[in-house]
Order: sequence, then structure tokens, then C-alpha cells
Amino acid sequence: MSTDPSSTPGTTPSTRLGIAVIGAGYWGPNLVRNFGGSPHWDLRMVCDLDLDRARQVAGPHVEVTDSLERVLDDPDITAVAIATPARTHHGLALQALRAGKHVLVEKPLADSVANGRAMVDLAEEQGLVLMTDHTYCYTPAVQKMRDLVVSGELGQVHFIDSVRINLGLIQPDIDVLWDLAPHDLAILDFVLPGGLPTVGIGATGADPIGAGRACVGHLTLPLPDNGLAHVHVNWLSPTKIRQMVIGGSRRTLVWDDLNPQQRLSIYDRGVDLARTSVGSTDRAASSVSYRLGDTWSPALPEREALGSMVGEFAAAIREGRPALTDGRSGLRVLEVLEQASRRLSDSSHAPAVDAHPVPAGPPPVPRPTVAEPVLEVVR
Ligand SMILES: NC(=O)c1ccc[n+]([C@@H]2O[C@H](COP(=O)([O-])OP(=O)(O)OC[C@H]3O[C@@H](n4cnc5c(N)ncnc54)[C@H](O)[C@@H]3O)[C@@H](O)[C@H]2O)c1
Repeated sequence: MSTDPSSTPGTTPSTRLGIAVIGAGYWGPNLVRNFGGSPHWDLRMVCDLDLDRARQVAGPHVEVTDSLERVLDDPDITAVAIATPARTHHGLALQALRAGKHVLVEKPLADSVANGRAMVDLAEEQGLVLMTDHTYCYTPAVQKMRDLVVSGELGQVHFIDSVRINLGLIQPDIDVLWDLAPHDLAILDFVLPGGLPTVGIGATGADPIGAGRACVGHLTLPLPDNGLAHVHVNWLSPTKIRQMVIGGSRRTLVWDDLNPQQRLSIYDRGVDLARTSVGSTDRAASSVSYRLGDTWSPALPEREALGSMVGEFAAAIREGRPALTDGRSGLRVLEVLEQASRRLSDSSHAPAVDAHPVPAGPPPVPRPTVAEPVLEVVR
């Protein structure tokens, strides 16, 4: 990749970089607002197949078009930001990269690993920045989580539990894992020093309402030293939960994205297992002790994640380096999603549960004939 900023037209640090946003549907306007308000960028064009939509979003001073060629032929446009449906990312990004434009792509990077890899390879061949908008990675909370994990404040990560559930929009073409889990996976990729684990992925999904695709999904990912990460995504939950727990050998962090007063809590609590030798035979024994220390909440600055994200895109271009959430991070997320889809399709072809009768156990204990008091278990 070129490290000379002046080698790309319009990229000297004293000038703003020309950008076009492609796709002005639900998410595109957020990009338009942030590129338009950024000191690093000159928003030059908004492109959408629906020209009226592009006009509504662009405002009076920004050119609109429904022609990608018009965008790519403009020498003052250094980069494009793609906010169209995932199945179109690959084709649009390849055209933009071939035209010499740096590319920001909305999550997920593409609709398959093969397509994502083609995008990453071409960007690297061309010496251009390919960045994935993993928006959460630019929130102050997730950046603090990364600091706490990377600095060793939490110790060795033992487990991660991530929950992202609500009454969600049932998507017509993708299941709940492809719709929601990219966020959790991108965060794991960002905060874990070794990045996202991409082998040994477990996945289960369920479609209890007959939507034709999984509406409830669970992923498991192995972590180093016998740790385990779990992600639960769900379109059917009447309550909205956005929580991640990262349990470490020293401390445990809880992120509650829906609690602006206290998004992060750090618990100095946990379980220690001490190996001790016992008696003259020097036998080993384990003693479990529970740490019940303080809980504290780090102060977090208030700033919009997308503002930081567009700043990072400009910095990566100017400094000729991969972005914090580069194309490869997008590719790792796709690798996990594709494995998860394979697990779901393997399990949907598995014989029905009835085909495996449970082996006969001991004869049932006769039920008492007198009414027994009902014990209510409260959890
Ligand atoms: N980062 C986030 O938190 C976040 C949140 C929501 C959506 N997204 C992502 O943003 C992307 C867009 O999602 P959305 O919900 O805005 O979709 P959408 O369907 O609301 O909007 C897509 C827009 O793209 C336009 N379009 C489609 N093909 C085009 C083409 N070839 N050229 C120009 N315009 C084209 C459509 O006319 C439409 O206006 C998806 O990848 C989605 O996953 C990211």
C-alpha cells in the first residue's frame, strides 16, 4: 500500500478528501450526515438507484446521481462509502476499487466469504484502503472494553456472553445470525487480542413461527485456554437487551448498551481455584475461593461512533495503513457466519429426534396417589 499521501489525488492532509455515499436507504443517511459534517471529508455526491431518495437525503448542495459510472469517473472523488444491501457490496466495491477509489463498506462486508475475499485481495493488489463499517467498534464503550482486555486489566478471558435480542424486523433474505450477529462478532474481533476465532464454531437456530429462516440463533466460539464465547441473537423477544459480559481471571466487565448512565461496569469479583498439595503424600487438591471486591464504572466520553469511524477512514487513507476495522476483519466475521450457516443446514438435515428413541432406563417410579404440595421455584 502506498504510504505517500500525495500520491492519491486530493489526499494531502491540508485538503478534505472527496467522498460519495452509495445507497441512501435506512442507513445511508447516517453516513451522509457524518461525512457531510466531518472536517476530513468533502461530501461530493450521493448515489442511489432511487433518485428521489438520493435527493431527499443529500440536501441542496450535494450532487445526486443514480449512475455509479458518474461517481467513479469523478477525479475529485477519492473514496466511496457503500450502504446498499449486502448482496450488492461485492459488485459495487470491485468496480470502485478498479476505478482506483478507496472503499468503505457497510457490515456485513459481503454476502459470502468468497466475495469478501475477492474484495480484500483486489484492495491489497491496488494498494487501496478497504474498510468495513463495524460501527460499534467506534463507540467509546467498546473502545474502553478493548483497552481493558488488551491491557490485561481483566486477566485471561474465561468467557464472553453476548445478547442482542428484541422484536426485530424479520428479514426477507437472511436469517437472524446474518442480520444481528455481525455486530457481536465485529466487537469480539475488535476486543480480543487474537481477533475473532474462526475455527470450531458451533451454531444452533430455530424458526418457531415458520418464517422460513432462523429467528433465534446461538453461536459458540472457542477462546484460548478453554474459554468460551457465546452469542445469542433473536428477533422474537418482546424485551430489548443489548448486553455483553466478558469474564476474566482478574475482573469481569458488563456492557449494557441500553443504560447510558452506566454502560460499563467492572466487577472485581470472581472465582479462584488454588492448587495445593495435601499431606505427606503430596496429593494435589483444589480449593475454590470467591473474590467479592468492588464494582466500578469508567467514565466514557459522549461522541457519535460514526464520526470517529469516518475519521479513521480518512486517517487510514492518509497514512497508507489498514483501517482499524479493515476488510480482513469483515472477512473474519463472514468466515464465522458461513460456518454457522453450515452448522444450521447440517442440523436441519439431521434425522428427527423421534428417529433416535431414548434407550430404556430404569422403570418409572410409581406416582403417589395422594396430592402432593406444589413447590414453587422462584429464580
Ligand atoms: N452499521 C450499522 O449499524 C448498520 C445498520 C443498519 C444497516 N447497515 C447496513 O447498511 C446496508 C444498507 O442497509 P439499509 O437498511 O440502509 O438498506 P435499505 O434497503 O434501506 O437501503 C438500501 C438503498 O440502496 C439503494 N441501492 C440498492 N442497490 C443500489 C445500487 N446498485 N446502486 C445505488 N443504490 C443502490 C436502494 O435504492 C436503497 O435506497 C446493509 O449492508 C446493512 O447491513 C448497517
